[in-house]
Amino acid sequence: MKINALFFSPTGGTKQVLDILCPVWDCEKTYIDLCSLDTDISFDPTDACMIAVPSFGGRVPKFLISKLKRIHGNGAKTVLVAVYGNRAYEDTLLELKDAAEASDLSCFGAAAAIARHSIIPKYGAGRPDDSDIRELQRFSARCRDILEKGSLPATYSLALPGNRPYRPYATLPLAPSAGKNCSGCGLCAERCPVGAIPADNPQRCNKETCISCMQCVSLCPEKARRVNPAILKAAELKLKKVCSERKANEFFLPAI
Ligand SMILES: Cc1cc2nc3c(=O)[nH]c(=O)nc-3n(C[C@H](O)[C@H](O)[C@H](O)COP(=O)(O)O)c2cc1C
Ligand code: SF4
Ligand code: SF4
Repeated sequence: MKINALFFSPTGGTKQVLDILCPVWDCEKTYIDLCSLDTDISFDPTDACMIAVPSFGGRVPKFLISKLKRIHGNGAKTVLVAVYGNRAYEDTLLELKDAAEASDLSCFGAAAAIARHSIIPKYGAGRPDDSDIRELQRFSARCRDILEKGSLPATYSLALPGNRPYRPYATLPLAPSAGKNCSGCGLCAERCPVGAIPADNPQRCNKETCISCMQCVSLCPEKARRVNPAILKAAELKLKKVCSERKANEFFLPAI
């Protein structure tokens, strides 16, 4: 068996969760950054897949849907992972399952896991912690065992929380731009997943295109990029009530 681990992780929390789950499987692994998936990709029916995405406004980040359409799953057994910043993940797993199944992936397990909130890092700080790591490893081992033993019921259908139609996309006024520390290295423009930073003027940001993923803030070697501090503070206060209490990871698997 081989495992294909597909992910989008603009600030590293989603990849951190994937890096806890994947090593539990003692088999060949291929990591695929969904940002760079620009051609079609086919999986073998005997492959296993994990798809890990962050929850943005309780949804799958919109641009990923066209990336997921690049996949020809051929029935490969798949585990879905939504990583969120201690508020809520709402329709993320359901939307991810719908997109995965539309690409002929056969979804049998799912996890909603908490990581540091990439916009307001005080929420979800320190997650995943030791207790999360143990839970995630246990979940991953159960997924692996189900496939290795071939014990998945033939008619199994993965039931996940969420609603259709999915909740509307939230538009956030949080487009980062660079200050005087910017060296003009161009790294942020090169790596922005939606091309919102002009290569010839990387201090700026196209507010219409930006998805506020915070990757450019996280990767800038000069720490030159930031969002408007007043807007950030307002977002922090608005989220305080819903983000402060510790949320539990959730796991969805067939009862075998
Ligand atoms: C634009 C945006 C929207 C987000 N929306 C939510 C949300 O609805 N619920 C939540 O709990 N966390 C939310 N978060 C936090 C991320 O889901 C969380 O920090 C995740 O770990 C980010 O993944 P990354 O570290 O791989 O970038 C959001 C973050 C961003 C950037
Ligand atoms: S990564 Fe930072 S220093 Fe480099 S161009 Fe972007 S904002 Fe400027
Ligand atoms: S400009 Fe916007 S979309 Fe691009 S990396 Fe920065 S936050 Fe993400």
